[in-house]
Amino acid sequence: MASSSSLKHHFIIVSFLIVMFSPVNGYFTSIFSFGDSLTDTGNLLAISISESKRRPSSAFPPNGRTFFHHPTGRRCDGRLAIDFLAETLGFPFLPPYYGCKNGRPEGFRKGANFAVAGATALNSSFLAEKGIHNPTTNMSLGDQLSSFKDFLPSLCSSSSECKELLGNSLIVMGEIGGNDYNHGFEQGTNIEKIRHLVPLVVDTIASAINELIELGAVTFLVPGNYPIGCTPAYLTSFQGSDKDKYDPSTGCLTWLNQFSEHHNELLRREVEKIRNLRPGINIIYVDNYNTAMRFYSSPEQFGFRETIRACCGGGGVYNYNSSRICGNPPVKKCCSYPSSFVSWDGVHYTEAANKWLAMAEFEELVHTIPSLNKPQSS
Ligand SMILES: *[C@@H]1O[C@H](CO)[C@@H](O)[C@H](O)[C@H]1NC(C)=O
Ligand SMILES: *[C@@H]1O[C@H](CO)[C@@H](O)[C@H](O)[C@H]1NC(C)=O
Ligand SMILES: *[C@@H]1O[C@H](CO)[C@@H](O)[C@H](O)[C@H]1NC(C)=O
Repeated sequence: MASSSSLKHHFIIVSFLIVMFSPVNGYFTSIFSFGDSLTDTGNLLAISISESKRRPSSAFPPNGRTFFHHPTGRRCDGRLAIDFLAETLGFPFLPPYYGCKNGRPEGFRKGANFAVAGATALNSSFLAEKGIHNPTTNMSLGDQLSSFKDFLPSLCSSSSECKELLGNSLIVMGEIGGNDYNHGFEQGTNIEKIRHLVPLVVDTIASAINELIELGAVTFLVPGNYPIGCTPAYLTSFQGSDKDKYDPSTGCLTWLNQFSEHHNELLRREVEKIRNLRPGINIIYVDNYNTAMRFYSSPEQFGFRETIRACCGGGGVYNYNSSRICGNPPVKKCCSYPSSFVSWDGVHYTEAANKWLAMAEFEELVHTIPSLNKPQSS
């Protein structure tokens, strides 16, 4: 449709102008990110290889087919939001820390990515006590932060030098926490028990941010959770729910989306609290939920034809089957045009959706940057 392509066109021109004329270019010298599969650019794959474990599904085609043309460990047909963000800020793709740590430290000059697919905010032993097991990885946010602290001295030699380096860096904290809930829901944990985790998850994210502030970090993007009630994986798990549990205009499960909104509300309040307590810190909450909801309520504006059915999956109403995940075992049911789908594999977004999400993140950053506190250089 003409309106959708002109909207797209408008977006591209606006973003181009923003990049050309905004003070964002050259503002940061590095980017460090933490999170889960929505941000993992190859860490889980690297860890599975180094520990001689079974390869994750992201190691197999058709993952990577749109952009990299081979699997990279990203659970996507192409780039993730963090890739688009790095590109837009003039950075190379962030190297996965666990994939490169023994190889080339100079490769981390412009940043590193600590996000691991499957990672939770709360640590594995704590979740295990609650009866929630992590089938994928035990690299929680705390472990990612420990790795970061171990790694930092390879980039700077004194505490003031490290402070300056971190002060000039962009920290992308998340999305993280989604898996604490996902693993619970998958394992049939009672929703009230899962709800009790939310403040603990948000506290864990806040502690990580505060630790990084102590080390000198100044600027943070803190993405919230996505509308999980719209994901083919959840829609399949809870298939056959009463009609009135679905939002008739989007086909999403309302109570699960309310769960995401609850997490986001607490996270947003925590971000505000940190902002008020720490003058001089730039901390930006990223409203992924509402950005993504627009895909489901007005798909044609973004060029999407399919919203709640996965592009690549094991069949069924939503083209999702948890025992036949996209990639492994080899799945034949992959759509021809991933860019017309919101969901790549039933859990993760397509490159096309990630691009819009990154654009929203970037605009958030650009709107804040004129007033950003520039770190003092010593
Ligand atoms: C795990 O998290 C709990 C609760 O936040 C904390 O008390 C405990 O020390 C942590 N354990 C490890 C091994 O980090
Ligand atoms: C995570 O699991 C690996 C083995 O898969 C183990 O070596 C490591 O100690 C564990 N780490 C934590 C923090 O539990
Ligand atoms: C999911 O895949 C498994 C294994 O191929 C199959 O046995 C099962 O029937 C599938 N489930 C659905 C709902 O299609």
